Amino acid sequence: MIPERVNAEAENLRKLIRYHNGIYYAEDRSEISDGEYDALMLRLIELESQWPELSTEDSPTHRVGSQPLSHFPSILWDPPMLSLDNVFSAEEFGEFDRRIRHELQLEEDIVYSVEPKLDGLAVALIYRNGVLLRAGTRGDGSDGEDVTPNVRTLRSIPLKLSSNLSGDLIVRGEVIFSKDDFHKMNRERKSRGLPSFVNPRNAASGSLRQLDSRITASRPLCFIAYGTARWPAGITSQHSLFDFLGRLGIPVNPYNSVCRGVDEVENAYHRLEENRDAMPWEIDGVVIKLNGASLQTRMGTLSRFPRWAAAWKFKAEEAVTRLIDIELQVGRTGKLTPVAKLEPVFVGGVTVSSATLHNEDELRRKDARPGDTVIVRRAGDVIPEVARSLGRSDGERGKRFEFPLNCPVCGGPVAREEDASAHRCMNPSCPAKLRESLFHWGARDALDIEGLGTILAEQLADKDLVGDVSDLYTLTLPQLAALDRMGEKSAGNLLSELEKSLSTSLQRFITGLGIPGIGRTVSGLLSGRFSDLHELMDAGVDEFLAAPGIGPVLADNLYRFFHEKITRGVVDRLLNVGFNPQGRGDDDECRPLLGLTLVFTGGISIPRSEARIMAEKAGAKVTGSVSKNTDIVVAGPRAGDKLQKALDLGLEIISEDEFLNRIR
Ligand code: IVH
Repeated sequence: MIPERVNAEAENLRKLIRYHNGIYYAEDRSEISDGEYDALMLRLIELESQWPELSTEDSPTHRVGSQPLSHFPSILWDPPMLSLDNVFSAEEFGEFDRRIRHELQLEEDIVYSVEPKLDGLAVALIYRNGVLLRAGTRGDGSDGEDVTPNVRTLRSIPLKLSSNLSGDLIVRGEVIFSKDDFHKMNRERKSRGLPSFVNPRNAASGSLRQLDSRITASRPLCFIAYGTARWPAGITSQHSLFDFLGRLGIPVNPYNSVCRGVDEVENAYHRLEENRDAMPWEIDGVVIKLNGASLQTRMGTLSRFPRWAAAWKFKAEEAVTRLIDIELQVGRTGKLTPVAKLEPVFVGGVTVSSATLHNEDELRRKDARPGDTVIVRRAGDVIPEVARSLGRSDGERGKRFEFPLNCPVCGGPVAREEDASAHRCMNPSCPAKLRESLFHWGARDALDIEGLGTILAEQLADKDLVGDVSDLYTLTLPQLAALDRMGEKSAGNLLSELEKSLSTSLQRFITGLGIPGIGRTVSGLLSGRFSDLHELMDAGVDEFLAAPGIGPVLADNLYRFFHEKITRGVVDRLLNVGFNPQGRGDDDECRPLLGLTLVFTGGISIPRSEARIMAEKAGAKVTGSVSKNTDIVVAGPRAGDKLQKALDLGLEIISEDEFLNRIR
């Protein structure tokens, strides 16, 4: 017989623990420290071990985990836990909507429940008379794994519902990791020399499916409900179901919304996609469901998914794949870039099979090796990159990639530039460099030679027809016409394009030379400072340094380029074939802000987007934040922090009128 005093203390402890669990998970706040919470829990465990009868099914102490299992018992789902059909675009969602309206003979806009698609592990909880009885994973939909002891350790899952409910209630939802908890856990694992989890989903699955529930108990997993196996009495819509579950103390997603008609659904989709990064949990799309319970029932289900719901996924920006090998690419300036060859993976809307590893420092930092599982990132138009390596699941490691002493294309010597972390092939006639430099010579910002694309550049270099850009001007019609994908006509066109390029500006000529660090903007600055090519070729380092925008590294690059035998030889030969570039570029006179970095702040009368275009047309680069690299800040009324920063940095600050004056 348990003494009344003990009973009362245990009951009090249970109440307190439930209360603190509740506010912690439902309201995301706590009134006591973790230490105080643990003390309550430890006292209850102590009482329950002294008086085992106190250890009821719904005691919060079950959350600390129990003895390991040898395997998971199976748990059968009836009705089965279905999957979701996908739509991939607004058009496909439109079709989904039309199909439903047609079948249900509805004229008016349909009301949908739009829910973030949580990326975790699907789990169902069986409550009997308001007490958590069993819980299991989805498994194949009909046959899951009984993970009851593990699920009991999740503090966000009530072991007892907050109102008395008779009969069975099967709640379905997702077990997930919050992003913060996930990163925190990975940091801790790393500091203990343990392998990191790939993503919150894998971490959730790995943590819940532990035979030893004490391990699950140590992982900060959450649960969010998105439905029930059957409609509870009196509940007539998806959203009243969420309210109902919430009232029982079961967490539901605060970002769920109700939308009327396809446009509202589309807006909700885009809003969630935009706010995706700010959400506490990883989401990979939205789930759209008919809101009305009776409409759902009328649409019914197919064998694998319901006909009343669809998943509309976001474009993934990161994907996991296997790194097959690391290869080197040789660029125009001879830079050796390590490139990861990957098992093809769909990311950011395209299939990617190679991704950059940037340079040796990056490669070492990520420690990516052949055989590793890697995370590939492709956001917007940027080049895909290997964001992270997760090593190999068997714990083995492939060989570390070492940069060679010789160029993989020509065998020439490779040198490492300490400051730039770049390795470069030093052979000036390396075919890889040659290919790239020919292509660069013909590029739009340089000599703008139509027809000199990558394929032609490659053929010219590989067939030994040219040794450097000056040889382009000695090519003959028969030589060109004999190349792949060329005929007499295109060969003739190319020759006249080359002829035309002889009368180019100094800016384009300098850009075309491909001197490290000297692109179109710096070339423009140089062409404003030096009147012709000869003056530039004969300048000393100090004279370069005196030019705007030129620091010691660029000055040195310029000086070396014009004084090293091989590169100087190319320039001399270009002069010999008829080049005599002079003065500012063709369009430079109307580019008064050429090479300057500009920031707009405060209120200006012209729309920002227009002001930006005007500034860019005048040659400026427009950025959003003020730094020491900013040249001019255009400030209007109510300019705040940026203006203050510009003042602190002593930058040039001008008004909108002055800006307009300068660009006219
Ligand atoms: S409803 C019968 N709602 O997505 C409908 N599922 O790809 C079954 N998921 O297995 C699911 N968030 O694990 C539903 N708000 C949500 C969801 C959601 C994530 C998962 C769930 C399901 C998978 C289907």
